[in-house]
Amino acid sequence: MKIFLDTAIITDISDRVDTGLIDGVTTNPTLIFKSGRSPEQTYQKIIDLGISDISMEVVGQTKGTMISQALALSDRFGDDATIKVPCTVEGLKACQELSSNHGIRVNVTLIFSAAQAILAAKAGASYVSPFVGRLNDNSICGISLIREINEIFKVQEVRTTKILSASIRNVRDVIQSYHFGADIVTMPPKVFDEMYGHVLTDVGVGIFEKHWQEVPDLAPCDLDPV
Ligand code: G3P
Repeated sequence: MKIFLDTAIITDISDRVDTGLIDGVTTNPTLIFKSGRSPEQTYQKIIDLGISDISMEVVGQTKGTMISQALALSDRFGDDATIKVPCTVEGLKACQELSSNHGIRVNVTLIFSAAQAILAAKAGASYVSPFVGRLNDNSICGISLIREINEIFKVQEVRTTKILSASIRNVRDVIQSYHFGADIVTMPPKVFDEMYGHVLTDVGVGIFEKHWQEVPDLAPCDLDPV
């Protein structure tokens, strides 16, 4: 059960990395755009924070265009780079070549159906990324897709392709993703922060702190070993 952060904002990552709970980072062209930095600069900064699994998305209409970007990223960032390709015919051709000929981890993104996940697994993807939130936005149950892919991968004994639940909007999406078989959930930093929260925890901490202040000081002789 791994937690990835879905962001390219360096402070978002650095503020949370010392929890020891972050296993990776996913980015995409929109997130890189919002970061205000170049992709390479962003990836290097994330690596400098100690993250060793960063999804770096390639763009283009052809397998050749995607592969040349992927190889350049892989040369520069080594095993820290997971190459993200779209679930298109050309993207899956690129996935096949990168995974089988170059041993590169590939994350096939923009998955909206079980059929796409099957093809991505066949193409040697290390990760398939179903977009839960965007399905929900379109009145289709995103979590049902996680469950369906998980069931298919179990029946077919697909072990090398992991389900990476993406496009996460809230803590409920996170819980249900893990419940229904996601190996990894990539989430916005805000959702990660909200996973800690429960009103009863806050109330309980308040009560314990109050009572702790009221515990009488022990006299020094009470602390002596018997
Ligand atoms: O990892 C993919 C994710 O970034 C897409 O999220 O919120 O743009 O649907 P969203």
